[in-house]
Amino acid sequence: MSNFADEINKRRTFAIISHPDAGKTTLTEKFLLYGGAINLAGSVKGKATARHAVSDWMEIEKERGISVTSSVLQFEYGGFCINILDTPGHQDFSEDTYRTLMAADSAVMVIDASKGVEAQTRKLFKVCVMRRIPIFTFINKMDRDANDTFELLDEIEKELGIATCPINWPIGSGKNFKGVYERETRCVITYSDTEKGTKEGQATRIGIDEEELLLSHIGGDFKEQLFDEIDLLDGASAEYDLDRIQAGELTPVFFGSALTNFGVEIFLQHFLKMTTTPLPRKADIGLIDPVEHDFSAFVFKIQANMNKAHRDRVAFMRICSGRYDASMEVKHIQGGKVMRLSQPQQIMADERKILSEAYAGDIIGVFDPGIFSIGDTLCMPKEQFQYEGIPTFAPEHFARVRQLDTMKRKQFVKGITQIAQEGAIQIFQEFNTGMEEIIVGVVGVLQFDVLKYRLENEYNVEIRLENLPYEHIRWIENKDIDLDKLTGTSDMKKIKDLKGNPLLLFVNQWSIGMTIERNNGLILSEFGRN
Ligand code: G4P
Repeated sequence: MSNFADEINKRRTFAIISHPDAGKTTLTEKFLLYGGAINLAGSVKGKATARHAVSDWMEIEKERGISVTSSVLQFEYGGFCINILDTPGHQDFSEDTYRTLMAADSAVMVIDASKGVEAQTRKLFKVCVMRRIPIFTFINKMDRDANDTFELLDEIEKELGIATCPINWPIGSGKNFKGVYERETRCVITYSDTEKGTKEGQATRIGIDEEELLLSHIGGDFKEQLFDEIDLLDGASAEYDLDRIQAGELTPVFFGSALTNFGVEIFLQHFLKMTTTPLPRKADIGLIDPVEHDFSAFVFKIQANMNKAHRDRVAFMRICSGRYDASMEVKHIQGGKVMRLSQPQQIMADERKILSEAYAGDIIGVFDPGIFSIGDTLCMPKEQFQYEGIPTFAPEHFARVRQLDTMKRKQFVKGITQIAQEGAIQIFQEFNTGMEEIIVGVVGVLQFDVLKYRLENEYNVEIRLENLPYEHIRWIENKDIDLDKLTGTSDMKKIKDLKGNPLLLFVNQWSIGMTIERNNGLILSEFGRN
């Protein structure tokens, strides 16, 4: 195998998803610690000062003290080159959170052991399932009193509809957390609190048959309970099956405590064995192989004004095949132009690093003079193909936009169109009007503030937003629909996107069901196409 193929095959690119506060940041921090990317855990996002340093880029984030955007971290561990795509943890997350999952080959789902499956996990999980990407579950905070382990697994299976396969099994929780039992090696790994940022290693491994030792470490009651649970588990849980894991049908489950740094390295080691090398991607000419094919990439995120001093806009792209070299010329398919990407960079913790080369599986950010859109393809100049578009995710909050100074119509239309092009918001129109009546839809309400702030600060346009009661939007899949004949519920609203595609807004799920019932053959979808 050539060096080039080695470089690609050692890449592992995954996203971390969780409900806010489940411990995603803490876990990421510990991963970086193992990778040697930071010296002491905590320095990536140590509370007040640097906590949001990784992706803070807009005043609004600082004012609110939350991260609006997602970022990418790269580090090396055990011969692998790992790219972690962080997704904003706040509940006011945006479509970017969803799109980030489009750029990952697998996802790590962090669940708080005392809370189980929570709302945001459910939403993100849906996208993983749609893409059939492998999902790895880390049940965190075992150093606190946890829900019953079997119940937790049951909840994942029932709520998310995915089979579970525990790779290890917790012994006690909270004050009585004794460690985990590793099923593959039939060893108990005893719990030790290494919160201060040292690496694991002090933990003792005890074979399940070493009775005396086991008794002295976990005590008689826990030993008995563990043996009972192992029996139950071996009889009842889904069997380990790598094919099913890689097809996204079965999730391996791990238990640990990110804060006290227990179970993190065990997780990392197993995870790296099970997760995939960069996967081939679908394009209009067929699957593009990451190693066989020359450079290609697609844009999954556009971020404006990361650095206010430069008023720049950065397009993030996932390299899907081949090697990228900063000096080479590439073709931007949608723009029909051959160009050199400017200032290719990688975001590493709180700094940006200018890159000279990158490989399939990597994420790079390039300076965007306003030419890229979400979903665009880049490839070698001699080639001509397009990656499958990134779906448009259903916004859940809607508002009518009123422009306060009608003299600034041009700036307003320019501003709102550009912000929509970056994918932070979606804009729609009343069905029978033009740009004068704009309805904006967002995935998280924070995006309303972002829109208002940016229009004022970047385009000098003031707006007022009037919230609308709708919570659900559906794209109409039927090609030959006569909208005038469509019979919906009284609270349904017909709108169109900028391309003129018809859409429906609903106040509740019930109305969606009624509308489908009343219109024979009507097909509605939660995801639109770019
Ligand atoms: P997030 O990114 O998913 O939103 O969660 P984050 O890592 O910020 O963790 C949320 C809170 O949970 C933090 O506490 C963090 O210290 C705590 N935490 C994370 N993992 C564990 C764990 O394994 N055990 C326990 N007991 N706590 C954990 P905080 O008080 O909000 O912040 P801080 O003061 O600790 O920074």
